[in-house]
Amino acid sequence: MSKRRPLVAGNWKMNGSLALVDEMKSALEASEFANTDVLVCPPFPYLGSLASDGFILGAQNHSKFDAGAHTGETSAAMLKEFGCRYVIVGHSERREDNNESNLDVAEKVETAINAGLIPILCVGESEQTRDAGKENEFIAEQLDAVLKLIGIANVAKIVIAYEPIWAIGTGKTASPEQAQAVHEFIRSHLTKENADVAASVQILYGGSVKASNAATLFSQPDIDGGLIGGASLNAEEFLAICQAANA
Ligand code: 13P
Repeated sequence: MSKRRPLVAGNWKMNGSLALVDEMKSALEASEFANTDVLVCPPFPYLGSLASDGFILGAQNHSKFDAGAHTGETSAAMLKEFGCRYVIVGHSERREDNNESNLDVAEKVETAINAGLIPILCVGESEQTRDAGKENEFIAEQLDAVLKLIGIANVAKIVIAYEPIWAIGTGKTASPEQAQAVHEFIRSHLTKENADVAASVQILYGGSVKASNAATLFSQPDIDGGLIGGASLNAEEFLAICQAANA
């Protein structure tokens, strides 16, 4: 089976500045990745400055509500209006910092789809869960909450990112074999519902991806690109990762 089109997404998290926006703009404008979609997910205030330049843009979060009395929140429709094509949903940092439950995450996936955005649904286990050998079970639960709300047909409208919590920002990357095993599990879990959807959904890996380990990760049969944190803040490093996906 041919692989799906690669996608590399830079998640700046709560980092960045106008200087980084300028640096990243020039770097990305000067590059071409014919076979890979390259996506930048900066904090909200920088979306406007990046939107004008025809980048593929993503946001890092949105409200599960459509509109109304939710001070401090941003709706999926607003992000769409500002040129976002994607939005990260259910990142482990939000699950932890903001107590986002599996149901909250599922509702956000649904809201994003309804607004015409492509949600990047993040799943992944803690070190403790992995040590107990329960990573697949844990991830199945995260996926099932979303499946239950949106149904398998709508999974064709999302991207999934496997981000083991123990590999995020730790420099401790999952080995290509460990990552592939979970990606394969995710695909097989979805295959039980619909084999075509399972075969076509893009599944990204995230967790200490660097230019030096990107190529071996991306060459795994079920890994379709990466969700990049720290390394997406350095234009040269990020471009090298995009190049690895594009090769
Ligand atoms: P790092 O690449 O910094 O480990 O972060 C991964 C991540 O959380 C991307 O969403």
